[in-house]
Amino acid sequence: MTEGHNGASTDVTTGESRRRRPTPVELDAMSTEELARLAAELDDVTIVSNRSKWPIPGTRAERRAERGVAAWFVLSAVSTIVFLGAFLYWPHNYVSPLDDSTVSIFGLTVSAHLMYSLYTPVIGTAFGLSVLGLGLGVIAYVKKFFPVEVSVQQRHDGPSDELDRKTIVAQLARAGKDTGIARRKIIKRSAGAAAGLMGAGLVVGLGGGLIRNPWEKGDDSPLLVTGWRPVFPGEKVYLRRDTGVSDEVSLIRPEDLEAGTLESAFPFRESERGDKEKLVHALKASDTPIMLIRLRPGVTATQRAGQEDFHYGDYYAYSKVCTHLGCPTSLYETQTNRILCPCHQSQFLANEYAKPVFGPATRALPQLPITVDEQGYFVARGDFIEPIGPAYWERKP
Ligand code: FES
Repeated sequence: MTEGHNGASTDVTTGESRRRRPTPVELDAMSTEELARLAAELDDVTIVSNRSKWPIPGTRAERRAERGVAAWFVLSAVSTIVFLGAFLYWPHNYVSPLDDSTVSIFGLTVSAHLMYSLYTPVIGTAFGLSVLGLGLGVIAYVKKFFPVEVSVQQRHDGPSDELDRKTIVAQLARAGKDTGIARRKIIKRSAGAAAGLMGAGLVVGLGGGLIRNPWEKGDDSPLLVTGWRPVFPGEKVYLRRDTGVSDEVSLIRPEDLEAGTLESAFPFRESERGDKEKLVHALKASDTPIMLIRLRPGVTATQRAGQEDFHYGDYYAYSKVCTHLGCPTSLYETQTNRILCPCHQSQFLANEYAKPVFGPATRALPQLPITVDEQGYFVARGDFIEPIGPAYWERKP
């Protein structure tokens, strides 16, 4: 064992260096600089050289480097402001390509469909630039202002002890001092603005959906109403198939389905006849698709209490939106009467009010009450009597 300067000793057999550990009183009396140096010594770090990149403060080159770093933070801050503005105020509601309406933006008249189409690219690009600017700003700062240091450290096993944890804070403080962050106002301000706005962006992005009250309209709130509800009392709502021509209306009759088959259906309300936009919307709306299933002859069916008359003979209409996470459940296995959701393999019994019998779904697929009108077409006898799709906080069982 050999004794060196500053109380450090070296074990000549292992070559490991050990410093005498200071007492709590000595520790409290040490300056940040001394604690940082102690941290390096305790970690068996030997600093071979430490050279500032800017030995003469305030040169033009240094100020140019500062502006270069600040530019990334400013880019991030501006992008976050654009993101927040677009997230909160951009006209994001769906506008059909067939719709010729326009909106006025800063005195310019722009197609409403174009504005709707640009919503996702704009908020995506703005948020991407915001994260990129912040990240590149930090990298540029480290590259341009951290001192050039060469250190050698021995490997140690196990967790850090309390002394190490205390001194690491001082070491970080010294690193900040070495880079001159205290006198670099432009970088501090731009980085602070970028990080602060980024935090605000995340809060708005994550919490924004909780701000709007989804129950403003009571029983008419969007989560409780689908396109199967008549626009006015007594209006017929037919079951319509998708022919591939979005504004074509092809109604479904019982004889269109073979026994043991399924057909997807969408609502057609008399009041929407001739209205291209509404006809397209009825096919695209996420909460309207149903599966019209015709059971095989002889299959015994069980009805849910209170919904005994929702079916029409062997025909049953169930929401296509899986009650697990909302995937479309369009696979029907005729022999077992099972409806399968391909996402996570939930299975529902078509002849037992679509109750779940396998997989993660825990609720039956909502059933649409149907009948056939005097002209022989399927019609809905009303909207679903429960919310369709996955569960949510306020959903009553
Ligand atoms: S979404 Fe249907 S099983 Fe998960």
